[in-house]
Amino acid sequence: MTNELTVVVLAAGGGTRMRSRTPKVLHPVAGRSMIGHVLAAVRGLGPARVVTVVGHQREVVGPHVSSLMEDAVLAVQEEQLGTGHAVAVALSASPVASGTVLVAYGDTPLLQTSTLAALVAAHEAADRAVTVLTGIVSSPEGYGRVVRSATGSVEAIVEEKDATPEQRAITEVNSGIYAFSAPFLAEAVARIGNGNASGEYYLTDAVGLAVADGLAVGAVVVEDSAEIEGANDRVQLAALGRLLNARIVESWMREGVTVVDPLTTWIDADVELTADVTLLPGVQLHGATKVDADAVIGPDSTLTDTEVGAGAHLVRVHANLAVIGAGADVGPFSYLRPGTVLGAGGKIGGFVETKNAVIGDRAKVPHLSYVGDAEIGEGTNIGAGTIFANYDGIAKHRTTVGRHARTGSNNTFVAPVSIGDGASTGGGAVVREDVPAGALAVSAGPLRIIEGWARAKRPGTAQADAADAAGDQ
Ligand code: UD1
Ligand code: CA
Repeated sequence: MTNELTVVVLAAGGGTRMRSRTPKVLHPVAGRSMIGHVLAAVRGLGPARVVTVVGHQREVVGPHVSSLMEDAVLAVQEEQLGTGHAVAVALSASPVASGTVLVAYGDTPLLQTSTLAALVAAHEAADRAVTVLTGIVSSPEGYGRVVRSATGSVEAIVEEKDATPEQRAITEVNSGIYAFSAPFLAEAVARIGNGNASGEYYLTDAVGLAVADGLAVGAVVVEDSAEIEGANDRVQLAALGRLLNARIVESWMREGVTVVDPLTTWIDADVELTADVTLLPGVQLHGATKVDADAVIGPDSTLTDTEVGAGAHLVRVHANLAVIGAGADVGPFSYLRPGTVLGAGGKIGGFVETKNAVIGDRAKVPHLSYVGDAEIGEGTNIGAGTIFANYDGIAKHRTTVGRHARTGSNNTFVAPVSIGDGASTGGGAVVREDVPAGALAVSAGPLRIIEGWARAKRPGTAQADAADAAGDQ
């Protein structure tokens, strides 16, 4: 690109067909809002400025756009009088005297930087007033149709409501994405009227105006028409979500990630993977999740904003904001809540829930436990069925377990409490006091054995009969 580039993103519309309290462009797909995907594609162009037109629910859409692109100009369109009016509002908020203006919509999540760059490059190379990005689709209903002359040059864009039956049969449609020469656009939007079937100011009329003025007009046909599709309702949102996911999954497979079942594997746009990661069926990787080489995840695991070290194995894991060390072993059926950090070669086993818990290298919490607000040293083994009782009903407290400790089954650690390096605890211990390094803590009373109890207290039952058959006293 040679000219200074301004991008205008239109996002003032209501999106009523979503039937949602959430503005349409904020609906998420592949871990980003729809407009988040568009802004990411736009950012890839390195534009001089980005203007987003907001209107409907602008108190929600505006801050969201600013959070994704701090220096984006927000132009407020109070009433949605049409796409031509929206662009006029953008240009009065941020006047552009020269260069190229790219217009796009906030609801096309599959749009790619490379497509926009090709449009701008073709536009600038031909030095046109306007270049339209078009698509060839099997069902053109709802789109503006691209009317070409006998020689193939673009003559006009006609909205469906205003089209003749012959024009309605055209399958080349307007994407709504255009590259304009800035001076032409500025004077064209001032001339666009609303004398059409919808009573709206159509940006598409700029194409006809350029042709009438004898200016150069052209089109670039998008290769994959999904890129220009907007999601107007939740059915389309799901369909586009599946296409976007397929694109993401395929690109990771090309990078060397094994995906056993692409159809049940969901990877958000911002996830980072490494060659030789294996994803088994039913895996969902969300947010800023990162997985290092040779890790095997799945089946059936959902990781959000979680880091997985090289060679780790995760089976049926639900993790959020967790860090799992290299070679660690997690699952099946483990629930890792925020602040869980598992060291290299460590283990979090079946039916274990962890939260705000730092578990050292090669330390193990293998079975049926709750570990909350805890630090467990390297090489320590926590017995089956242990509860880190972190909450006294008013405040949360921490438990510290040292290195190479061995705690018994069915323990309760009543926080705040600490268990020293190399210490042990007996089965069933309720630990309310600190256990020094190397000590053994037992809290169960002596075992009492009452002979003949079943016969005396449960006469005539199968239990008593069994005891009797065993020759009890
Ligand atoms: C528009 C095009 C049509 C094209 C289609 C592609 C016009 C007149 N028609 O039709 O040729 O095939 O897009 O999807 O441009 N918006 C505003 N302010 C407004 C009106 C719209 O910001 O006053 C925004 C909407 O939020 C939306 C986009 O512009 O993101 C498109 O508006 P919409 O009303 O959906 O246009 P279409 O009828 O789909
Ligand atoms: Ca639309």
